Formats: sequence, C-alpha cells, structure tokens
Amino acid sequence: MYISVFALVFLIGPAAEALDNGLALTPTMGWLHWERFMCNTDCDQDPDNCISERLFMQVADVMVKEGWKEAGYEYVCIDDCWPYHQRDNQGRLQADPKRFPGGIKKLADYVHSRGLKLGIYADVGNKTCAGYPGSLGYYDTDAQTFAEWGVDLLKFDGCFMDWTLLGEGYMNMSRALNQTGRSIVYSCEWPLYEWRFQKPNYTAIRETCNHWRNSADVLDSWSSIKSISAWTADYQDTIVPAAGPGGWNDPDMLVIGNFGLSHDQQESQMALWAIMAAPLFMSNDLRNICPRSKELLQNKHVISINQDPLGKQGYLSGKVDGFEVWERPLSKQRLAIAVLNKQEIGGPRGFVIRAAQGWRVCTPACNVTQILPHYKDMGVQPMFSKMVVRVNPSGTVLLTVVPVSGDFKEVYSMEWQDTSVRHHNNAFL
Ligand SMILES: *[C@@H]1O[C@H](CO)[C@@H](O)[C@H](O)[C@H]1NC(C)=O
Ligand SMILES: *[C@@H]1O[C@H](CO)[C@@H](O)[C@H](O)[C@H]1NC(C)=O
Ligand SMILES: *[C@@H]1O[C@H](CO)[C@@H](O)[C@H](O)[C@H]1NC(C)=O
Ligand SMILES: *[C@@H]1O[C@H](CO)[C@@H](O)[C@H](O)[C@H]1NC(C)=O
Ligand SMILES: *[C@@H]1O[C@H](CO)[C@@H](O)[C@H](O)[C@H]1NC(C)=O
Repeated sequence: MYISVFALVFLIGPAAEALDNGLALTPTMGWLHWERFMCNTDCDQDPDNCISERLFMQVADVMVKEGWKEAGYEYVCIDDCWPYHQRDNQGRLQADPKRFPGGIKKLADYVHSRGLKLGIYADVGNKTCAGYPGSLGYYDTDAQTFAEWGVDLLKFDGCFMDWTLLGEGYMNMSRALNQTGRSIVYSCEWPLYEWRFQKPNYTAIRETCNHWRNSADVLDSWSSIKSISAWTADYQDTIVPAAGPGGWNDPDMLVIGNFGLSHDQQESQMALWAIMAAPLFMSNDLRNICPRSKELLQNKHVISINQDPLGKQGYLSGKVDGFEVWERPLSKQRLAIAVLNKQEIGGPRGFVIRAAQGWRVCTPACNVTQILPHYKDMGVQPMFSKMVVRVNPSGTVLLTVVPVSGDFKEVYSMEWQDTSVRHHNNAFL
C-alpha cells in the first residue's frame, strides 16, 4: 500500500531551479538562538542568557574550541529581539544599543575572525513576531544594511503581513539581497504562513529561498518532534520534490541537548533530520551541554547522511505495527534507512527489515552499517535476507546500505521461500 507514495515521489522528477546564489548546496549547518533563548532581553537579571552580543561571541568561541566548527556547524544565527524599537533617522534598522554595544558589524567581524558566519533575523511584514520593526517597505534598505554589516544569512519571518502579499514580499527581498552583491543565505517562512490559506507554490519558493519553514515552530518536546515529522510525512508528495541542492525544506531547529527529549528521542530527531535533508540549526546552550548530546550532534556518520551531495530528501516509506520506516536515497546508489519505534510503552522491540523489493539497490547484495544508536558493521546482506533490528520506545535505528557486487544467488533463492512464507506481515514496501 505504500508503493504508490513511493512511486509518486520519484515520478515528479527533479527539483525545479534553485535560487541562483551558489549557497546551501547542502543543508545549512549552524546554531540559532530562538528555541533555547527566545526573547530574553533581561540582561540585568540574566546576563548569561539574554539576547546580547556577549551570547553570540561566547557561542562562536565554543563552536571553534569544542569541535562544532570542525563537525560542519558554521552559521551563528541571531533570531528575533535583537533590534532597537525604532529605526534610525535614515530609516535603517539598528541593534539594541544596550545589548549590542559594539553593533552588528563588530559582531560579524568577531564571528568571521573565528572562521564562522553570522546570521540575522528580520520580518517580511510590518513588525517582527515579537513586535520589533518589520521590513515591509524597507527591503532594499535592510538588505543593504545587512550586507554592509557583513551578515551571511537572513532568517526572514512572516508575521504581520497580508498573506496575499507574502510571495511578492519574499521575492522582493530575495531580489534585494541579490542586488547587494553579497552572498547571503536566504531562510524563508513563506510556506508556513501561506499554508493557512492555500497550497503554496513550491516552484516559486525554491527559486526564491535557500530554505523554507513549512510547519509550526519546534518546541523542546517529543510531541513537537512527532508532529513535525507527521506533517512532513503527510505532505511529502508536495514538499520532497522541492528539495535539492540550493533549496531545502526546513523542519526547524534541533533541540538536542536541552531538557525535553530523552536520549532515544534525541537520536530520533537527529536521524529524522538527516533523512529529511534538513538544515541543522542547533538551539541549545553549547557552553553547557551533556557529553552524549554533544557526541550525537557531532556524529560524523549522521552528518554525512544529512549532507549527502545527491541532495535528495528522504520520505516515510512505510508504517507497520507501530514502527515507521523512513528512507533517503544517497549518492553512489546508497540508501539511508531509519526505523522509528512509535510505541511509547514497553521495551525494545524487534523489527524485521526485509531487503526484497524495497532495497532494489541491493542487487545482488548490500553492505549494511548501523549508524545509530551505535556504529556497527552489520555485514554483507544478500538481496533477500532479513535482518532484525531492536528499537527502543521513541528511539530510532539508523542504517546505511551500500550495494556490493558478488555472487549471492544461492543464498537468496533460499531466503525467498523463507521470507515470503513467514515474514510477509513484517515486510515493508
Ligand atoms: C544574483 O543573481 C544572479 C542571476 O540569477 C546570479 O548569477 C548571481 O550570482 C546572484 N548574486 C548573488 C550575490 O546572489
Ligand atoms: C502595515 O501597516 C500599515 C499601517 O498601519 C497598514 O496600512 C498596512 O495595511 C499594513 N500592511 C500589512 C501588509 O499588514
Ligand atoms: C514588490 O516589488 C514590486 C516592484 O517594485 C512592487 O510593485 C510591490 O509593491 C512590492 N511588493 C511588496 C510586498 O513589497
Ligand atoms: C508557480 O511559480 C512558477 C515559477 O515562479 C510559475 O511559473 C508557475 O506558473 C506558478 N504556478 C502557479 C500554479 O501559480
Ligand atoms: C562494509 O562496510 C564496513 C563499514 O561499515 C567496511 O568496514 C567493510 O569493509 C565493508 N565491507 C564490504 C564487503 O564492502
């Protein structure tokens, strides 16, 4: 019954033209303040956690010292609540002078001196979501200001905007950014705000933005991760074909290393975001993060699935017995497979992965590697072998399968009888 979903994703064909700015050829990686630090502007009472230049400088320092930059996390991104409540007398945005005494230009220089890039936030409408000045009517001015400051990424929110003008606004800002001549990653929320009224035009979105938010803000909870992955699966026929080098669906920040997810759930978020070819923006306190979360976020095998150069987003390929199976085609005919145990009761449960049909890449056999929860060589599996993985409640087992050549005929003719008779209940695809 999942064959139709599967086929459709592939029939729609290659993604449309991406925004031609040479950026985000693989999903953007970095850190973004919102989920963890929100609109905390109280630097008197809470100097370590308020939205201030100090926070971003400390994060930049830690990113270099603690291996984040080396792992690929590059963009240090400011979200809402950085500006002063009024524009200056020339109509330009200005940073809150108390919290950003050096100004954004100096902060950008600092971040660049660490070999990292700086992201900033603005809004397509009259006001930002937290009520700071919006960019409507000021797109050229704001793009120019950001370029002069040395900003490398713009997250452009969609609050306080007439929805019928969303497309125009996002496209105008895209043009304004282009005209500055500076390379600035353009992170949009256009579809998120348009879905409430009509189906967005993903061809136009891909031509305009480097990534785009589709669904609600992530929270620090498993129910939030579940609802984002459920939304992504429900709309995958529409959104998966829109992703590719230069433009990505953005399911929002990684909340790994915070308070709301168990370690299994953190692994599930990391695995799903890798399958979904999602931008990886951590929102956590890198100055104080538990070693296991750090190790997970820096896992080079998972990151290399996320950053796979083929740039095809994965999709939900089957739901069986309280499990979800997600797949992502990778370069060199490889495949990533995530098996998520959705049952939130009991202990680890076995799931039979049957290679027949589904793993068409495994002709005649595949080399299987488990990436999460632990790196493990699972050996060469002939096309019709079946493997059992054990998955913790709300946890995920992430695998890669790589085709290998060889003569495995005898083995799989035997296995064929076995699997077709006894295991059809657990077969997916
Ligand atoms: C602006 O757009 C043109 C044409 O699409 C492209 O060639 C150029 O690289 C873009 N420049 C920047 C700075 O994004
Ligand atoms: C922005 O604010 C102005 C002045 O209040 C109002 O006339 C206009 O309709 C608003 N625009 C949008 C897109 O909400
Ligand atoms: C977009 O730009 C066009 C052409 O300059 C202009 O007519 C239109 O009002 C702009 N729309 C918005 C929402 O800024
Ligand atoms: C969607 O956008 C593309 C590119 O801008 C355009 O060619 C196409 O006509 C639009 N489709 C619809 C249904 O509006
Ligand atoms: C299978 O992959 C593992 C890495 O997981 C590698 O060490 C091994 O050499 C590979 N085996 C074959 C036959 O390709």
